[in-house]
Amino acid sequence: MALNDRRDFLKLCLSAAPALALSRRAMAQVAIIGQAHTAPSPQLRRFVDPLPIPRTLEPHRRRHGKLSYRVRMVEFERRLHSDLPPARLWGYEGEYPGPVFEARCGIPVSVKWENHLPLQHLFAIDQRLHACAPPTPAVRVVPHLHGARADSRSDGLPENWFTPGHSVVYHYPNQQNAATLWYHDHAGGIERLNLYAGMAGFYLLRDDRELAMHLPDGDYEIPLLLQDRRVDANGQLVYQPTFADGTLPAPGAWAPQLFGDLPVINGAIYPFLEVEPRRYRLRVLNGANGRFFNVYMNLAKKPTDIPRLVTFHQVGSDGGLLADPVPMQHLLLGPAERADLIVDFTGLEGQTVTVSNNAKSPFPGWDLINPLYAPLPELMQFRVTRPLAPGAKSFSMPPPISVPRLDPAQAVCTRTFVLTEDTDKQGRSLRMMIDGKMYDEPTTEFPVLGSIEKWRFINTTDDAHPMHLHLVQFQIVERQGYDHASFLLYNKLVMRGFARKPAPNEMGWKDTAILNPGEVLTILVPFLGFTGKYVYHCHIAEHADNDMMRPFVVVAPGKKETSDA
Ligand code: C2O
Ligand code: CU
Ligand code: CU
Repeated sequence: MALNDRRDFLKLCLSAAPALALSRRAMAQVAIIGQAHTAPSPQLRRFVDPLPIPRTLEPHRRRHGKLSYRVRMVEFERRLHSDLPPARLWGYEGEYPGPVFEARCGIPVSVKWENHLPLQHLFAIDQRLHACAPPTPAVRVVPHLHGARADSRSDGLPENWFTPGHSVVYHYPNQQNAATLWYHDHAGGIERLNLYAGMAGFYLLRDDRELAMHLPDGDYEIPLLLQDRRVDANGQLVYQPTFADGTLPAPGAWAPQLFGDLPVINGAIYPFLEVEPRRYRLRVLNGANGRFFNVYMNLAKKPTDIPRLVTFHQVGSDGGLLADPVPMQHLLLGPAERADLIVDFTGLEGQTVTVSNNAKSPFPGWDLINPLYAPLPELMQFRVTRPLAPGAKSFSMPPPISVPRLDPAQAVCTRTFVLTEDTDKQGRSLRMMIDGKMYDEPTTEFPVLGSIEKWRFINTTDDAHPMHLHLVQFQIVERQGYDHASFLLYNKLVMRGFARKPAPNEMGWKDTAILNPGEVLTILVPFLGFTGKYVYHCHIAEHADNDMMRPFVVVAPGKKETSDA
């Protein structure tokens, strides 16, 4: 037997099989009766606040075919709901979500990111996490453009943080497909807190081909940032993570999951938007710390009524347009995933479409009698109350385009990563890991620039993880179950059941993909653009902070593995 020590034995007991994991959860559920729970947010009226539409950021200079921007990160106050007092928030240019970058393929952008935040953090910092012990300052930021192919020095690596009074200039060449990118904070060990404080925004990259397609634009193209938050009676954000059994860590300490009991869409709780009976383009981003959303458009009045679903089309994924629009009734998005949607409100005059959600938290969830976390069945409303604007031009669906599928035979190597959760004697999470390594242990992966590699992630934990790689856009090959017992006892990977091809809406370019519990996710990754250090991690921000993140270093062809760049 490969049971080396007590830790392995515990790991085996605690996460050997979904059935075991379920009973662990179920037992924990029984055990916590009577224990302290997070105070719920105040009851708030739904759909009374208009959906905030983030404004477009103006470049501060245009020179030599290059755009320069300046973005200040500041603390500011804003109401998250009209019945609440203003909340203290952190945001780019004092906005939540941050302003939208309108970028064009081939036109490089540089951004001066300035840290004007106060010296005190909005939330408690767990000094046990890497890079968090004094004398490291509490307030640190580093912006990351998620999905971008950028030089390592402009990537926003977790260790490249800077403190209030400092700034960096990052360069984004925009040499990649038109896509829905987003920017957010990435400071090591406190990314989850900075993101939760409000530090996220859209970066829409367009090209001539897309601009010639007559997709809905202007007022008819809506970025939608989906998040969840908890607030106190004064309207202030409450960052309260929990363990898998719903119990709370010591005040200010890390715990693996964070679920708010209120949906916050574009920075507003339960907002609504009045729309015309016509096509709209929605750029949907799951910007939550840890919540998955399974979104559907519902014409029924109440969440308990029989749903009347509106079919919509997904036309793009993380890294650009899909080959063909995919008709859908449900859209599953893990944290950091994006979907480019066309929703047609034609013929729905006078009706209300509730953007609804039925994803469990944690995802994919366990069938317990009482779910530990609010399910957030309603997110926001579209009210088809506006008349069609006179002389309105008509918008089309995108025509079919070619999105070449990578061939697994092109892969020069296969790398396999094992995701685990370290637990204490009570089964409470101590940290999440990839290959049992901490982020700051030496780099082990050195892909060669220009090559294609096959990466496989094995999930030995109870929950799904949205796996993200910096620098690249990849393609999903398949997902398949495997035998936990053989893997944990004999370190043998025995596949189970059928390998499932990605769903039609996952057939395009991705930079984040869901890894289900008990499964192996296989992706094909072309390493293009730059050599240097990047990271891959789970995009549940709590997991990324402790410590489900590892570096990789892209090396030039002909060069052998080197030490850390
Ligand atoms: Cu969106 Cu490394 O992150
Ligand atoms: Cu990223
Ligand atoms: Cu994770």
